[in-house]
Amino acid sequence: MAAIREKRSYYEADKVSVFLSPNKIIVGKGAAQQVGKEAKALGSKRALIVTDPGVVKAGLIGVIEESLKSERIKVGIFDKVEPEPPARIVDECAQMVQEGKYDLIVGVGGGSSLDTAKGAAILATNKGKVLDYVGVDTVPKRGLPKILVPTTAGTGSEVTRVFVITDEAENTKKVVYSNFNLADVAILDPLLTLSMPPFVTADTGLDALVHAIEAFVSVNATPFSDILAIEAISLIAHNLPVAYAKGNDIEARYNMLLAANIAGLAFTSGGLGAVHGLAYVLGTEYHMSHGRSNAIMLPHVMKFNLIGNLPKYAKIAEAMGEEIEGLSLYEAAQKAVEAVEKLLNAVNIPYRLSEYKIPKSDLPKLVEGGMKQARLFVPNPRDLSEEDVRKIYEEAF
Ligand SMILES: [Fe+2]
Repeated sequence: MAAIREKRSYYEADKVSVFLSPNKIIVGKGAAQQVGKEAKALGSKRALIVTDPGVVKAGLIGVIEESLKSERIKVGIFDKVEPEPPARIVDECAQMVQEGKYDLIVGVGGGSSLDTAKGAAILATNKGKVLDYVGVDTVPKRGLPKILVPTTAGTGSEVTRVFVITDEAENTKKVVYSNFNLADVAILDPLLTLSMPPFVTADTGLDALVHAIEAFVSVNATPFSDILAIEAISLIAHNLPVAYAKGNDIEARYNMLLAANIAGLAFTSGGLGAVHGLAYVLGTEYHMSHGRSNAIMLPHVMKFNLIGNLPKYAKIAEAMGEEIEGLSLYEAAQKAVEAVEKLLNAVNIPYRLSEYKIPKSDLPKLVEGGMKQARLFVPNPRDLSEEDVRKIYEEAF
């Protein structure tokens, strides 16, 4: 293992890389009180809060509404966001933006709310429906300014240039990549994450871990994504069990929110991989949450991927607290899978498809769904054929 430790870095001087981020990130306990001040600085007179009914019920909107009103900004609320947001909800939200003549979007919630907010912001200045903009850099004009405030520590959507929507007609996920999706301001307040129940803490936290791991081992990794991803991996391994066990531990919540955020920054530049690629179908076919689907596929895809980048998987093991001194590179890399399995067990996430009562006869459906997301195999550290995809799902049973 000495070779890894002695090597100063794995950054490649001959590779030109780009780092993207929102204009401003504000983080800390009570930071949500600054939404009004930031909205005013963006010139807003009428702001629309985009959220879901659960966030409203948890009483998380009050502080944000108050802070906007204290700056004499008129506030509207769109609270119809659904999980794994269908395209029609984004279109409906965009219609409310247009009819209410709002000049700023404030997304508050988990990934679904933030993604709906991003979509509505784009549609305020670009014609048509959200599905018209699926793909890479297809959005012609900058959307309305937006402030994104996460209430879960998972997606990192507040800092990414993507949003994901469900195409109900085709029963699959579609992604809109655009630099116009980047927030003007991202506000991270751990107080808003305290009321997350343990299973949501676990599922969303695992999504963040998958972002960090996939960005770290991605063939498109950059020095920036590496620095952020490895720190996120370490923060999640050490803080997720605490946040799961003791929901009001503000330090664990702060560290998880920070980790999810920097993992989001990491994958915006470094990209994702086959875990996300093979997980989406679990969401569309069995209505599992995005985080849970990723969590289930993570150890199986890691086992397959290991040989694609042994030094980086060894580094992941080390960041997660595994002892790798004296091990061969291969053994050290395998420790990363063990560390992930330990973490999944600690937060009560079964990672066998059979444990979710998915019948083995569904295998062809899973393979077909997985292959629909083959674009996500491109940055993966190991190439995947359809046969490989089948083997990984088989292993996952
Ligand atoms: Fe994700």
